[in-house]
Amino acid sequence: MPCNCCEITDHAFSESEARAEVRNYRKRGPANQTKLILEAIRSLGLKDAALLDVGGGIGTIYHELLEDVAREAMHVDASSAYLKIATEEAKRRGHSERVKFIHADFTEVAADLPQVDVVTLDRVVCCYPDYRSLLKAAANKTRRAVALTYPREIWYMRIALHVVNFFQRLMNDPFRVFLHPVQGMESLLNNEGLKRVSTRRLFVWEMALYQR
Ligand SMILES: C[S@@+](CC[C@H](N)C(=O)[O-])C[C@H]1O[C@@H](n2cnc3c(N)ncnc32)[C@H](O)[C@@H]1O
Repeated sequence: MPCNCCEITDHAFSESEARAEVRNYRKRGPANQTKLILEAIRSLGLKDAALLDVGGGIGTIYHELLEDVAREAMHVDASSAYLKIATEEAKRRGHSERVKFIHADFTEVAADLPQVDVVTLDRVVCCYPDYRSLLKAAANKTRRAVALTYPREIWYMRIALHVVNFFQRLMNDPFRVFLHPVQGMESLLNNEGLKRVSTRRLFVWEMALYQR
C-alpha cells in the first residue's frame, strides 16, 4: 500500500514553527533531550566522524557536533520547512559546505545513502508510524552508533499522546504521534547488531545510545 506519511509530515511542521525553534536555539542552546544525544555521542570520543541526522529539524545536532566531533553531516528530513531553516542556520554558522540536505522519507532513500559513523534520530520515531522500517534503515547506515530519543513508555505519556491525537482528529489533521514499544525498538536494534550502552531519562523523553 503506498504510504503518504512523508507528505503528511511535511505539512505538519510549518516554517514559522521552525523559525521560532531556531531563535530559541540561538538564545538558549540545544533543547534538553538533544543535550543528552550530544553528550552520548561526545562520550564515544570520535574525531572527524561522518554523521547522519534523520529528521534533524533545524539541525541542532550537527550545528553542534561539526564544532568538534564531526567532519561532515547528512540531514534527511521529510519537512521542507525544517530543511529550509536548517540550511539557513548552517550558512550562518559557516559550515553549509559540510552538510548535505536531503528532502525525503528516510526509509525511501536510505538504500542510496553511504554508511556513516553515527546516526541520530532526535524525537523522530514518534512522528513516524513504521518504527521498524525507520530503525532498520538507521541501523544499516551506521558503522559505530545510533543515538535516539523517543517519548517515555509511561502512563502519563500514553495519556498525553492520546490527547494530542484526539485534537489532531478533531482538526481533521492526518498527522499523528506514536508511542512505540521500547522493547520492540530494542529487539530490532539488537538484531541489527547494535547494543544499548547508555540510557538517560527526562520527564517526557528517553535517550538511548546503541553501539556496534
Ligand atoms: C518533532 S520533529 C524533531 C526535529 C528535531 N530532530 C528535534 O528534535 O528538534 C520530527 C522530525 O522528524 C522528521 N521525520 C519524521 N519521519 C521522518 C522520515 N521517515 N524521514 C525523514 N524525516 C522524518 C520530521 O520531518 C521532523 O523534522
